[in-house]
Amino acid sequence: MSAPPETSARVGHGVLSQRRCRARRAPPRPVGGLFGPAVSHDEPHACENCQPNRGRVLTPCARFENHWRPTPPEEVLVPIPVRLRVNDTDREHVIEPRVLLVHYLRDLCGLTGTHVGCETGICGACTVLVDGQAVKSCTLFAVQADGASVTTIEGVGNGHLHPVQQGFWDCHGLQCGYCTPGMIMASIHLLAQNPSPTRAEIAEGLRGNLCRCTGYSHIIDAVAQASAAGEVARG
Ligand code: FES
Ligand code: FES
Repeated sequence: MSAPPETSARVGHGVLSQRRCRARRAPPRPVGGLFGPAVSHDEPHACENCQPNRGRVLTPCARFENHWRPTPPEEVLVPIPVRLRVNDTDREHVIEPRVLLVHYLRDLCGLTGTHVGCETGICGACTVLVDGQAVKSCTLFAVQADGASVTTIEGVGNGHLHPVQQGFWDCHGLQCGYCTPGMIMASIHLLAQNPSPTRAEIAEGLRGNLCRCTGYSHIIDAVAQASAAGEVARG
């Protein structure tokens, strides 16, 4: 005895479902994405540290943090030499124009004190000083800062705590610390512009920097202490 035929409704539903499923199946994606062509997890490749890197065009390795690989010639867009003065040290690299300043500082200069939070210009964790101006370094390509003087959190204090750092230390201006380098750089810029800000002006001056831990009042205390110390805030 043959099996009873399926109802047209069941057959139709099954066929449609399978077709939808196949049509929606996404192809395997390469790892990474921000930097375009990346190495697949399945693709064997050699990683190497980023130093020495002068004169070579490098692409961030999507598989290992802080590893870079020589960029294949066909992937190189326009290699551009970039010369920056970072924390009073001259730096010179040849990089792809799409490398953000924050990645340049962290991955090529090894200055990981500058943090990456949102990478969209919202959180302020990546704030550095570019020619004395507070800049969110995820919003700038490194090549756009060519010729500029950049100060990161590693470049303040000269071996001692900067007055703003001392304020954060004394006033418990941090908890997890993720926002802190950006907060401090933004505060240094704020005090350079206005050495005696009110609490409202401090809050306004730091509105571009987000903190998920402290509730901000201790951060304002810290900047107010640095201001009251009367020392010239420097980058
Ligand atoms: S990482 Fe740059 S603003 Fe958030
Ligand atoms: S101290 Fe944790 S985000 Fe500010």
